[in-house]
Amino acid sequence: KKDIRILAFESSCDETSTSVVKNGREIESLIVATQIKSHQRFGGVVPEVASRHHIEVITQITNEALKEANVTWKDIDAIAVTYGPGLVGALLIGVSAAKAASMATGIPLIGVDHIMGHIMAAQLKEEIAYPALALQVSGGHTEIVLLKDPTHLEIVGDTRDDAAGEAYDKIGRVLGVNYPAGKTIDEWAHQGQDTFEFPRAMIKEDDYDFSFSGLKSAFINTCHHAEQIHQDLNKYDLAASFQAAVIDVLATKTIRAIKQYSPKTFIMGGGVAANHGLRDRMNSEIADLPRNIQPKVILPELKLCGDNAAMIGAAAYNLYQEGKFTDLTLDADPSLEL
Ligand code: KG4
Ligand code: ZN
Repeated sequence: KKDIRILAFESSCDETSTSVVKNGREIESLIVATQIKSHQRFGGVVPEVASRHHIEVITQITNEALKEANVTWKDIDAIAVTYGPGLVGALLIGVSAAKAASMATGIPLIGVDHIMGHIMAAQLKEEIAYPALALQVSGGHTEIVLLKDPTHLEIVGDTRDDAAGEAYDKIGRVLGVNYPAGKTIDEWAHQGQDTFEFPRAMIKEDDYDFSFSGLKSAFINTCHHAEQIHQDLNKYDLAASFQAAVIDVLATKTIRAIKQYSPKTFIMGGGVAANHGLRDRMNSEIADLPRNIQPKVILPELKLCGDNAAMIGAAAYNLYQEGKFTDLTLDADPSLEL
């Protein structure tokens, strides 16, 4: 059987990335050009700045991805690109580059949903058995997703307000941590104790939705109140208490969804899937489930949790297998929902 090589583009937010992925499983090259430094002084991603950075590097990193994989255009079977959801101006750079490459070379084009990409980072580690259930947690999304096969996803739970990563970034700002704050808060949490009583919104409700804005407000109020009475709070304990609240809700609802849907595989994806506390908690809660409903757990490599083009190449391979190509009318869709 012939190997299928996909060149993938990802530019939905603040990383420009290209990758060559073989057979949806093997990364032959992966380039990630991060813009984090440029956004840090604004405390978050500035869409216009993001688009400019993408356009500056995309041609160069396309060539680098081919070179690093030791291939040329004629070895590429399909060109894949994230077309949503994300920042429209940012998405457009990747979509335009992919369309231009497809038009110039005649190589077929595949449009990939960013959420599906995050989930398929797991496929780069291990083969996924279906049905699969995914906890997709990033700066923009917090969702429980059910997959009956490799190309169809159904969102069974979603956040009503802030995404989990967004909450990390917002409370990080209060603690003076640079954007994106998740990794540092995770490290601090391991050095502190869960001593503050923060709310666990919607934990008891029998749906699979989340809400993190109340937790964020409670955290900010606690800090402001302490400031007013000139009391110093322990930042490690604050981080530990915040993280315990986030993980409690994510884990409780995800375990409930696993009991409801009995998936064969449990997957985590997105930037927050790199959280050590969350990974440990999910591993141990799943290990405690009765054997007959215990899914196989696939947690992607840490560096593949954040935005990258390899996960887009993995998801595109599944679409390739089903002949799901797109034509040159492909457009960026900032609020794409599958
Ligand atoms: O998936 P991603 O790179 O971009 C989006 O699609 O949003 O996720 C970035 C988010 C940021 O909010 C960042 O603070 C968070 O992931 N993050 C973490 C950790 N590492 C990154 N949150 C919690 N713990 C971490 N270790
Ligand atoms: Zn993402």
